[in-house]
Amino acid sequence: MRPLPLDLDALQAYVEEHTTPLEPLLDELFEATHASLSAPQMLSGRVNGRLLRLLVALKRPRLVLEIGTYSGYSALAMAPALPPGGRIVTCEVSEQHAQFARSWFARSPHGERIELRQGPALDTIAGLDGPFDLVFIDADKDGYVDYYEATVPKLAPDGLMVADNTLRSGRVLDPDDEGGRVMAAFNDHVHADARTENVLLSVRDGITLIRLASPAA
Ligand SMILES: C[S@@+](CC[C@H](N)C(=O)[O-])C[C@H]1O[C@@H](n2cnc3c(N)ncnc32)[C@H](O)[C@@H]1O
Repeated sequence: MRPLPLDLDALQAYVEEHTTPLEPLLDELFEATHASLSAPQMLSGRVNGRLLRLLVALKRPRLVLEIGTYSGYSALAMAPALPPGGRIVTCEVSEQHAQFARSWFARSPHGERIELRQGPALDTIAGLDGPFDLVFIDADKDGYVDYYEATVPKLAPDGLMVADNTLRSGRVLDPDDEGGRVMAAFNDHVHADARTENVLLSVRDGITLIRLASPAA
Protein backbone atom coordinates (compact mmCIF):
# COMPACT_ATOMS: atom_id res chain seq x y z
CA MET A 1 0.00 0.00 0.00
CA ARG A 2 1.32 3.46 -0.96
CA PRO A 3 1.68 5.76 2.13
CA LEU A 4 -0.38 8.97 2.09
CA PRO A 5 1.47 12.29 2.32
CA LEU A 6 1.57 13.04 6.05
CA ASP A 7 -0.35 16.07 7.40
CA LEU A 8 1.16 16.27 10.89
CA ASP A 9 -1.39 18.79 12.25
CA ALA A 10 -4.31 16.63 11.10
CA LEU A 11 -2.61 13.58 12.59
CA GLN A 12 -2.11 15.33 15.97
CA ALA A 13 -5.77 16.38 15.96
CA TYR A 14 -6.80 12.79 15.23
CA VAL A 15 -4.57 11.47 18.04
CA GLU A 16 -6.08 13.98 20.47
CA GLU A 17 -9.66 13.18 19.40
CA HIS A 18 -8.98 9.48 19.99
CA THR A 19 -7.49 9.92 23.46
CA THR A 20 -9.73 9.77 26.54
CA PRO A 21 -10.38 13.31 27.81
CA LEU A 22 -9.26 14.37 31.26
CA GLU A 23 -11.71 15.89 33.76
CA PRO A 24 -13.42 19.27 33.19
CA LEU A 25 -11.10 21.03 35.70
CA LEU A 26 -8.21 20.40 33.34
CA ASP A 27 -10.18 21.76 30.37
CA GLU A 28 -10.86 24.88 32.46
CA LEU A 29 -7.17 25.13 33.34
CA PHE A 30 -6.27 24.81 29.66
CA GLU A 31 -8.58 27.75 28.82
CA ALA A 32 -7.38 29.86 31.77
CA THR A 33 -3.73 29.25 30.88
CA HIS A 34 -4.35 30.44 27.33
CA ALA A 35 -6.23 33.50 28.64
CA SER A 36 -3.76 34.50 31.37
CA LEU A 37 -0.20 33.28 30.79
CA SER A 38 2.30 33.83 28.03
CA ALA A 39 3.60 30.85 26.02
CA PRO A 40 0.52 28.63 26.59
CA GLN A 41 1.94 26.12 24.10
CA MET A 42 4.14 25.00 27.05
CA LEU A 43 1.11 23.29 28.61
CA SER A 44 1.34 19.58 27.85
CA GLY A 45 -2.33 18.91 27.01
CA ARG A 46 -4.61 15.92 26.77
CA VAL A 47 -2.34 13.37 25.11
CA ASN A 48 0.70 13.88 27.34
CA GLY A 49 -1.57 14.33 30.35
CA ARG A 50 -3.26 10.99 29.66
CA LEU A 51 0.08 9.30 29.05
CA LEU A 52 1.48 10.65 32.34
CA ARG A 53 -1.64 9.54 34.22
CA LEU A 54 -1.37 6.08 32.69
CA LEU A 55 2.30 5.80 33.68
CA VAL A 56 1.51 6.91 37.24
CA ALA A 57 -1.38 4.44 37.46
CA LEU A 58 0.86 1.58 36.28
CA LYS A 59 3.94 2.57 38.26
CA ARG A 60 2.19 3.53 41.52
CA PRO A 61 4.97 5.94 42.56
CA ARG A 62 5.38 7.04 46.16
CA LEU A 63 7.38 10.08 45.06
CA VAL A 64 7.08 11.89 41.73
CA LEU A 65 9.49 14.71 40.90
CA GLU A 66 8.26 17.13 38.25
CA ILE A 67 10.76 19.64 36.84
CA GLY A 68 8.78 22.52 35.31
CA THR A 69 5.28 23.18 36.68
CA TYR A 70 4.07 26.07 34.46
CA SER A 71 0.30 26.36 35.10
CA GLY A 72 0.07 23.00 36.89
CA TYR A 73 -1.60 20.99 34.12
CA SER A 74 0.74 17.99 34.08
CA ALA A 75 0.89 17.77 37.90
CA LEU A 76 -2.91 17.82 38.04
CA ALA A 77 -3.05 15.22 35.27
CA MET A 78 -0.85 12.85 37.31
CA ALA A 79 -2.19 13.45 40.82
CA PRO A 80 -5.49 11.48 40.64
CA ALA A 81 -3.60 8.28 39.73
CA LEU A 82 -1.21 8.40 42.71
CA PRO A 83 -1.45 5.44 45.11
CA PRO A 84 -2.38 6.08 48.76
CA GLY A 85 0.49 8.03 50.36
CA GLY A 86 1.94 9.01 46.99
CA ARG A 87 2.90 12.63 46.34
CA ILE A 88 4.31 14.95 43.70
CA VAL A 89 7.05 17.53 44.27
CA THR A 90 6.98 20.01 41.39
CA CYS A 91 9.71 22.61 40.72
CA GLU A 92 9.02 26.03 39.21
CA VAL A 93 11.35 29.03 38.97
CA SER A 94 8.77 31.66 37.94
CA GLU A 95 6.84 33.27 40.78
CA GLN A 96 3.97 34.10 38.42
CA HIS A 97 3.68 30.49 37.23
CA ALA A 98 4.01 29.16 40.78
CA GLN A 99 1.22 31.40 42.08
CA PHE A 100 -1.02 30.52 39.16
CA ALA A 101 -0.44 26.78 39.57
CA ARG A 102 -1.00 26.89 43.34
CA SER A 103 -4.39 28.51 42.82
CA TRP A 104 -5.39 25.59 40.55
CA PHE A 105 -3.99 22.94 42.90
CA ALA A 106 -6.24 24.45 45.57
CA ARG A 107 -9.28 23.80 43.36
CA SER A 108 -8.54 20.10 42.89
CA PRO A 109 -9.50 17.34 45.35
CA HIS A 110 -5.99 15.96 44.67
CA GLY A 111 -4.14 19.27 45.04
CA GLU A 112 -2.95 18.56 48.59
CA ARG A 113 -0.75 15.79 47.23
CA ILE A 114 1.21 18.26 45.10
CA GLU A 115 3.98 20.26 46.76
CA LEU A 116 5.27 23.15 44.68
CA ARG A 117 8.85 24.26 45.37
CA GLN A 118 9.56 27.66 43.90
CA GLY A 119 13.15 28.30 42.78
CA PRO A 120 15.70 26.92 40.34
CA ALA A 121 15.00 23.21 39.98
CA LEU A 122 18.64 22.18 40.43
CA ASP A 123 18.66 23.78 43.91
CA THR A 124 15.42 22.03 44.82
CA ILE A 125 16.71 18.66 43.58
CA ALA A 126 19.94 19.10 45.55
CA GLY A 127 17.85 19.33 48.72
CA LEU A 128 15.82 16.19 48.02
CA ASP A 129 17.04 12.70 48.91
CA GLY A 130 14.71 10.72 46.68
CA PRO A 131 14.38 7.98 45.78
CA PHE A 132 12.25 9.23 42.91
CA ASP A 133 9.89 6.63 41.50
CA LEU A 134 8.97 8.85 38.58
CA VAL A 135 10.73 11.97 37.27
CA PHE A 136 9.12 14.20 34.66
CA ILE A 137 11.61 16.58 33.02
CA ASP A 138 9.81 19.48 31.34
CA ALA A 139 11.61 22.75 32.21
CA ASP A 140 14.20 24.84 30.29
CA LYS A 141 15.65 22.70 27.53
CA ASP A 142 19.22 23.94 28.17
CA GLY A 143 18.99 22.33 31.59
CA TYR A 144 17.91 18.84 30.54
CA VAL A 145 21.37 17.23 30.78
CA ASP A 146 21.86 18.73 34.25
CA TYR A 147 18.40 17.58 35.39
CA TYR A 148 19.16 14.10 34.09
CA GLU A 149 22.54 13.98 35.83
CA ALA A 150 21.05 15.31 39.08
CA THR A 151 18.24 12.75 39.15
CA VAL A 152 19.76 9.51 37.79
CA PRO A 153 21.64 8.88 41.09
CA LYS A 154 18.40 9.49 43.03
CA LEU A 155 16.18 7.36 40.85
CA ALA A 156 14.60 4.34 42.59
CA PRO A 157 15.98 1.02 41.26
CA ASP A 158 12.78 0.49 39.26
CA GLY A 159 12.18 4.22 38.74
CA LEU A 160 11.08 5.82 35.50
CA MET A 161 12.22 9.10 33.99
CA VAL A 162 10.10 10.86 31.37
CA ALA A 163 11.57 13.72 29.32
CA ASP A 164 9.26 15.90 27.22
CA ASN A 165 9.85 17.72 23.91
CA THR A 166 12.75 15.49 22.92
CA LEU A 167 12.01 15.91 19.21
CA ARG A 168 11.48 19.70 19.36
CA SER A 169 9.09 19.64 16.41
CA GLY A 170 11.70 17.76 14.39
CA ARG A 171 14.33 20.47 14.94
CA VAL A 172 16.70 17.85 16.39
CA LEU A 173 17.33 16.90 12.76
CA ASP A 174 18.51 20.41 11.80
CA PRO A 175 22.14 21.09 12.73
CA ASP A 176 21.60 24.87 12.15
CA ASP A 177 18.87 25.18 14.77
CA GLU A 178 20.19 26.07 18.25
CA GLY A 179 17.12 24.79 20.12
CA GLY A 180 17.23 21.58 18.16
CA ARG A 181 20.98 21.21 18.81
CA VAL A 182 20.46 21.49 22.58
CA MET A 183 17.87 18.74 22.55
CA ALA A 184 19.90 16.59 20.15
CA ALA A 185 22.80 16.88 22.62
CA PHE A 186 20.49 15.68 25.42
CA ASN A 187 19.27 12.76 23.30
CA ASP A 188 22.87 11.80 22.46
CA HIS A 189 23.85 12.10 26.13
CA VAL A 190 21.09 9.76 27.28
CA HIS A 191 21.62 7.34 24.42
CA ALA A 192 25.34 7.04 25.22
CA ASP A 193 24.84 6.51 28.96
CA ALA A 194 25.44 2.87 29.89
CA ARG A 195 23.74 3.41 33.28
CA THR A 196 20.33 3.71 31.63
CA GLU A 197 18.20 2.40 28.79
CA ASN A 198 15.68 4.52 26.91
CA VAL A 199 13.07 4.67 24.23
CA LEU A 200 12.32 7.90 22.35
CA LEU A 201 8.62 7.91 21.50
CA SER A 202 7.39 10.13 18.67
CA VAL A 203 4.35 11.07 20.75
CA ARG A 204 3.37 14.71 20.29
CA ASP A 205 6.69 16.64 20.49
CA GLY A 206 8.70 13.56 21.47
CA ILE A 207 8.72 11.85 24.86
CA THR A 208 11.67 9.81 26.06
CA LEU A 209 11.18 7.08 28.66
CA ILE A 210 14.30 6.19 30.62
CA ARG A 211 15.06 3.64 33.32
CA LEU A 212 18.17 2.27 34.95
CA ALA A 213 19.78 -0.36 32.76
CA SER A 214 18.63 -3.82 33.67
CA PRO A 215 20.54 -6.78 32.26
CA ALA A 216 17.79 -9.11 33.50
CA ALA A 217 14.71 -7.59 31.84
C1 LIG B 1 7.18 23.54 29.46
S1 LIG B 1 6.75 24.40 30.91
C2 LIG B 1 6.12 23.12 31.96
C3 LIG B 1 4.80 22.60 31.47
C4 LIG B 1 4.09 21.69 32.44
N1 LIG B 1 4.95 20.60 32.88
C5 LIG B 1 2.88 21.10 31.75
O1 LIG B 1 3.04 20.06 31.13
O2 LIG B 1 1.81 21.68 31.79
C6 LIG B 1 8.32 24.76 31.60
C7 LIG B 1 8.31 25.47 32.95
O3 LIG B 1 9.62 25.36 33.50
C8 LIG B 1 9.90 26.53 34.21
N2 LIG B 1 11.37 26.63 34.37
C9 LIG B 1 12.28 27.11 33.48
N3 LIG B 1 13.52 27.06 34.00
C10 LIG B 1 13.39 26.53 35.25
C11 LIG B 1 14.31 26.22 36.29
N4 LIG B 1 15.62 26.46 36.15
N5 LIG B 1 13.83 25.69 37.43
C12 LIG B 1 12.50 25.44 37.59
N6 LIG B 1 11.58 25.73 36.64
C13 LIG B 1 12.02 26.26 35.48
C14 LIG B 1 9.29 27.63 33.33
O4 LIG B 1 9.09 28.82 34.10
C15 LIG B 1 8.00 26.97 32.87
O5 LIG B 1 6.93 27.30 33.72
